[in-house]
Amino acid sequence: MKKIIAGNWKLHHSPSKAREFVAALTQRLSASPWKEMENLSQLEFALFPSAAAWESVSESLAKKSSKHILSWGGQNAWTHPVGAFTGENSAQVLKELGAKYLLVGHSERRAIFKESGELIAQKMAAALQMGLVPLLCVGETLPERESGQTLRVVESQLNEALSGLSQSQEVVIAYEPVWAIGTGRVASSAQVAEAHFGIRSILAKMRFSESVPILYGGSVKPENSTELIGIPDVGGFLVGGASLEVDSFLKIAAPLLTHS
Ligand code: PGA
Repeated sequence: MKKIIAGNWKLHHSPSKAREFVAALTQRLSASPWKEMENLSQLEFALFPSAAAWESVSESLAKKSSKHILSWGGQNAWTHPVGAFTGENSAQVLKELGAKYLLVGHSERRAIFKESGELIAQKMAAALQMGLVPLLCVGETLPERESGQTLRVVESQLNEALSGLSQSQEVVIAYEPVWAIGTGRVASSAQVAEAHFGIRSILAKMRFSESVPILYGGSVKPENSTELIGIPDVGGFLVGGASLEVDSFLKIAAPLLTHS
C-alpha cells in the first residue's frame, strides 16, 4: 500500500519560502539516490502550507516532473465555501488551486481555536463535498493517557467525525497524541502499535475499509522514522517541525520506501 509523508508547515514558510522548498524538494527527488528508487511511486509527499502560501505551492508543483508523487492540502477551511465569514479560508479555493487534502481536527485547532467535535464533523463533510480528502487528526492529551482513556478518547473522536459519512468516501486518519506534538517526546513503539491497532479495529467496526491509511504524528524526526514505520498499521507520518527543512523531511521519508 502507498505510504504518505505529510508535512504540516503550520504558520511557517511564506509564499517565497514555500516556492524555494518545493524547488529544493523536487530537485532532490529527481537526483540520485531518489531518482533510481524503483518504488518511489509508492510514496506520496503531501505538503500543508499556510493559506497565504497555497497559491505558490500550487503553482510550483504544477511545473514539476515529480508532481505525480507530490500533493498538497490546506491546514484549515471553513464549513461553507463562500459567504460572510471574515478571516476564514475556503475549501472551494483549495479545490480550484488543485489541492488534494484538507487537514481536519488537528489538536492545535481543537485546543487553541476551540473546535468542537460537531464543527469537525461539519468540516469533514464540507471537505468531501468539495472533492477534497479529509486528513482527520485524533489523539489523546497527557491526562487522558495517564488515566487510561486513550482508546476511549480516540474512539469518540472517530465517531464524531466519521459517523455522518459514507464508508466509501476517501479519508486519511492521523493518530497524533497531543503530548507528543512539538514536544520532542515521541510515543513509544508499543504505544503507537496499540493505538494504531485500536484505530484500525474502530474503523472496522464502523465499516470503513482496511485500506484507510493511518498516519502517526508527534515529534517524528529522522532518528525515529525507521522504527516507527516498522510498526504494523503505520501508513506514514504527519510531520510538523521536522518537515520544515527539505533535508530532514527526506531523511524521514527514506525508510518509508523500504517498508512499502
Ligand atoms: P511535530 O508536529 O512533528 O512538530 O510534533 C506534528 C503535528 O503537529 O502534526
